[in-house]
Amino acid sequence: MAEKLWHGRFEKAPSKITEEISESISYDHALYKVDIRASLAHAKMLCSVGVISSEDFSAIEKGLNQIESEIASGKMEFSSVLEDIHMHVESRLIELIGERGKKLHTGRSRNDQVAVDTHLFTRKALEEHRKDLTALLQKILSLAQKEVGKIWIGYTHLQIAQPVLLSHYLLAYFWQFARDLETLDFVYESVRFSPLGAAALGGANYPIDREKTAHDLAFDAPYPNSMDAVANRDYQLNYHFCALRLFLHISRFCEDIVIYNSTEFGYVTLGDAVTTGSSIMPQKKNPDIAELLRGKAGRVNGNMQALITNLKGLPLTYNRDLQEDKVYLFDSIKQVRQGLLGMLEILNHIHFNEERLLENLSRAFALATDVADYLVREKNIPFRDAHRVAGSAVKFAEAHHKRLETLSEKEWEKVAGYPLNFPQDFFSAQASISRRQGYGSTNPEAVSVQIQEAAAFLEKNVGDTKK
Ligand code: ARG
Repeated sequence: MAEKLWHGRFEKAPSKITEEISESISYDHALYKVDIRASLAHAKMLCSVGVISSEDFSAIEKGLNQIESEIASGKMEFSSVLEDIHMHVESRLIELIGERGKKLHTGRSRNDQVAVDTHLFTRKALEEHRKDLTALLQKILSLAQKEVGKIWIGYTHLQIAQPVLLSHYLLAYFWQFARDLETLDFVYESVRFSPLGAAALGGANYPIDREKTAHDLAFDAPYPNSMDAVANRDYQLNYHFCALRLFLHISRFCEDIVIYNSTEFGYVTLGDAVTTGSSIMPQKKNPDIAELLRGKAGRVNGNMQALITNLKGLPLTYNRDLQEDKVYLFDSIKQVRQGLLGMLEILNHIHFNEERLLENLSRAFALATDVADYLVREKNIPFRDAHRVAGSAVKFAEAHHKRLETLSEKEWEKVAGYPLNFPQDFFSAQASISRRQGYGSTNPEAVSVQIQEAAAFLEKNVGDTKK
């Protein structure tokens, strides 16, 4: 079987290292299903325009279907002599059905063949990502609904800033991933044209019907330019950027979780399902899955950079450099799948510990801004002066090992220069959160509006990938 299909004009075999560098079967075997699907569409079209007979087509169809099950069941042996998946399928077809099999490649080149395969493969991946991302969004929304009323701490500079609702914090990630869903749909849009029929670069010498193959393979239309069709990798650049941005969101969420899961913070506890042990320290329960997902963001970025660097300055049209694109694409597709499913699993096994949060809020004087705003509102004091009074109160409390809520009326007078007392419950985190106002804030009413909007977003966007 292992004879090269292009050997006609050669006298000698390529050297070993040439073969090793040339081969892509070690990874592009993943394309076998889409390759066969595209070949079937191509053969059907060749038959419909009279380039091959219906007997040819039936034999090709039967042969291709058999090859698909041979590969699926692991029966086909791959060899670097045959370079890639396209050559493996075609050689086996000729082996199976003889002369008729040699007609399949009429009016086609591996340049448009690999392009159409990769388009189909990317589209399928996007459809799967969309399902996984939707499940993640649903999970975040349901946590936001379930944990409604619970307190969380908002940080800036990794310093305690203000109390917020846990639901508000979770929804901040919801909206990031919601934008990723929109971006997935944008990427999908960029894979809507069929390269098939562009042949090597200038089109085929046969009366082929590109609309027909495009339609059969569920593309919107053929590429309007055959040179662009075989050279274009923009949809992959879009894919990589989308994957990377999604991974930036995953890695930030995971970093939060790694920090908050530490003994020092203790805001969250991760279940056994998403943690692993140490081989030496028996007490350890490490958040490895969150760490690995955080780390994978680097890998996904690397894949994007690799493609960018590969494409820079490439002359039109097809160049063999482009074979490498699949290494990056396939890897990022795998990482995105793991990232989405892993993130979901972490959220399936996370517990939020409110007591630790309440304790830290009080220790960190997190309601100092509330004090300043109270002085502005109730005492008509300019904000800058109020800010100074609240700051002095923090300094005083810290020096005397007190908290803002335990300062006496006298102590407030000492700090402010005038008598001050605060309504009962002023210093509770809940009260602080309720004082926050306006659309998009952490005020419980605003958060319930947000929950409705998140649910409406999902309702509108769930379903199949938009076409
Ligand atoms: N395996 C090749 C790739 O992935 C197929 C195209 C080869 N075309 C060529 N002209 N040698 O790009």
